[in-house]
Amino acid sequence: MARVLVTRLLPAGGTDPLTAAGHDVVQRTEDVPYGHEELVSLASGVDGIVCLLTDRIDEEVLAAGASAGLRVVANVAVGYDNIDVAAAHRLGVAVCNTPGVLDETTADLAFLLVLAASRLASDAEHDLRHDAWPGWGVTQYLGRDVHGATLGLVGYGRIGRAVARRAAGFGMQVLHHTRRPTEMPGYVAELERLLAEADVVSLHVPLTPATRHLIGARELTLMGPDAVLVNTARGPVVDEEALAEALHAGTIFAAGLDVFEREPDVHPRLLCAPRTVLLPHIGSASRATRTQMARVASQGACDVLAGRSPANLVTP
Ligand code: DGY
Repeated sequence: MARVLVTRLLPAGGTDPLTAAGHDVVQRTEDVPYGHEELVSLASGVDGIVCLLTDRIDEEVLAAGASAGLRVVANVAVGYDNIDVAAAHRLGVAVCNTPGVLDETTADLAFLLVLAASRLASDAEHDLRHDAWPGWGVTQYLGRDVHGATLGLVGYGRIGRAVARRAAGFGMQVLHHTRRPTEMPGYVAELERLLAEADVVSLHVPLTPATRHLIGARELTLMGPDAVLVNTARGPVVDEEALAEALHAGTIFAAGLDVFEREPDVHPRLLCAPRTVLLPHIGSASRATRTQMARVASQGACDVLAGRSPANLVTP
């Protein structure tokens, strides 16, 4: 039996694989992240950690854990930019994540943002709720049509492809860009060309040094004043300052954002930007999917602790 720290409240049933395997689960019952110092200290008393993207599992946490027998860190997320995977590898701590189980749910939300941002849903709802709608008018809230538009997907992994399937149902033309050629229809080798040709750009890349601020002032200019930007990937992929500027200046038409550079803080100029739909990182937030993510992460921890190779091992 091993001791496993679960750093934050999980959906009911999320730790079932750990309890079924007979592990001693040290479960935080509050739905707020631990402070960094607390994490460092807790890591040195457990064999495994099931954590969330709000936990910064850096070299300090990993070294404290590894020196006392920590063997696995399982992230309840597909993204793992909160974990220093290289340090974990050096220290002999396995890292797992939850790919596959959240693709469709996240793609649903990305498409919600495509529709809501293109059709100015937030501005219209805001007026309605704040007694600022004077009644129907033929020139009000004139958005962009989604049907027949061109969708440019930056990143074409499982979630990007799930968004492409939804777009086909809306009669959109779909282009995609990845660093390596996919040899699939719609592939565009140059990001610049995709940005210039797409009416709606949706981001589906992981956060890495290469993708940080992938979309900045220059890229927004390439997209042009009729374009819509959707981000359900990671906040720092977009330069928020540049995006806020473009939205206020009208050099981009609209944006739909589920992720932010400094969560939970949102750039103040984005909060008051026109034609902008903002959601609090809920891409995978359906009860079924979040429960499944917690179980997949818990199972990954169980596998490592049992000496098996986990299905979703992350390597540097
Ligand atoms: C992830 O899994 O990386 C998402 O951001 C949360 O579902």
